[in-house]
Amino acid sequence: MNTMKPTDTVDDLQGNLGDYYATVIDSVGDGVIVVNSDGIITLYNPAAEEITGFSRKQALGASFNKLLSQEIFIVEMVAKTIHTGITISDHENAVLRSTGKIKPVAVACYPLMLASGENIGAILTLKDITYIRELEAAVRQADRLSTLGTLAAGLAHEVKNPLGGIKGAAQLLERELSSGSDLREYTRVMIRETERIDHIMRELLELASPRGLKLSPVNLHKVLGDILLLQKQAVAEQDITFTQQFDPSIPAIMADEEMLTRLFLNLIRNAIDAMGETGRLIVVTRVLSDYRMTQNERNSRMVAVEIDDDGPGIPREDLENIWTPFFSTKSSGTGLGLTICHKIVAEHRGMIKVDSDQSHGTKFTILLPLVQ
Ligand SMILES: Nc1ncnc2c1ncn2[C@@H]1O[C@H](COP(=O)(O)OP(=O)(O)OP(=O)(O)O)[C@@H](O)[C@H]1O
Ligand SMILES: [Mg+2]
Repeated sequence: MNTMKPTDTVDDLQGNLGDYYATVIDSVGDGVIVVNSDGIITLYNPAAEEITGFSRKQALGASFNKLLSQEIFIVEMVAKTIHTGITISDHENAVLRSTGKIKPVAVACYPLMLASGENIGAILTLKDITYIRELEAAVRQADRLSTLGTLAAGLAHEVKNPLGGIKGAAQLLERELSSGSDLREYTRVMIRETERIDHIMRELLELASPRGLKLSPVNLHKVLGDILLLQKQAVAEQDITFTQQFDPSIPAIMADEEMLTRLFLNLIRNAIDAMGETGRLIVVTRVLSDYRMTQNERNSRMVAVEIDDDGPGIPREDLENIWTPFFSTKSSGTGLGLTICHKIVAEHRGMIKVDSDQSHGTKFTILLPLVQ
């Protein structure tokens, strides 16, 4: 799409001012669309193709109103600028890609004016703000979880002592009963169930009180490979295929190995639970060389791990609840698995997100910095 040919030099380009300007506009990272006063598209840069999903070929010479007919707000914005010559900026809207996926974008519209002041069209700029939205959602999620975590920890403290009392009393009672007594079955249930509550409480307490990371260089592929090997054996009876696509260039990352094991085990177990008798699980790793997360005012390279299943997916209405403590759709689930995963990733200064739809399944993506 770029008009700059390999043999072009800056001098050649500047010699031909039209090519030079076209190259400049093609190189802008934001979508740029120019519409003339008849509403016809006269310029469409590669970023605009990427954001809208329409190719330059489809767009050039087409009516802007027709091409983006679904985006009434943007169509009205352009019409207003062409009509009145005013600049409209800082509007956030959603552009529908031709794939049907909604993409959040920030839109601005400027009048295209000749030196004489005559208004001959409009310039529309589109900025993809998907990443900003994802970060905002992650921050909201973290706020919500920290409030819930504090509450849960308070509760866990209160419950732990009386629970110990009940278990102790049940054990005493068991000792009092003769070894053949039918009542022993009841005391055993009491002890087992108090142990179950105790386990949940311990997990909750751990959630709320950070134990701190024990950092060491971790071989991510070994951690993932071991979990996959064990889980494969655990579900050998089921018809589930496991595929791993590991990027061999990933170095050891600074992380807490025990926590990462827990994180990936939780996610892989969830995927297996979701798939049931048959399915395919793909675990992918890659280095994101151009992905930088600014935290504490420094950038760090990230690695991405994807855990992708072809299970039934997560219903849209459940998607925002899955991180909440005790949200579970399983009869024997505690609903703490993903809350713990979220916390482990946050403690590693990473990011976790989920993409799920009911026809393809569920993909969890975890981004972790290579160094802490
Ligand atoms: N890969 C997946 N496919 C479909 N649904 C999923 C998947 N992962 C999680 N879920 C949904 O999210 C819910 C919460 O998951 P989470 O791991 O927090 O709890 P759980 O698995 O139910 O219980 P546990 O605490 O034992 O892990 C699950 O009950 C399930 O409904
Ligand atoms: Mg789980």
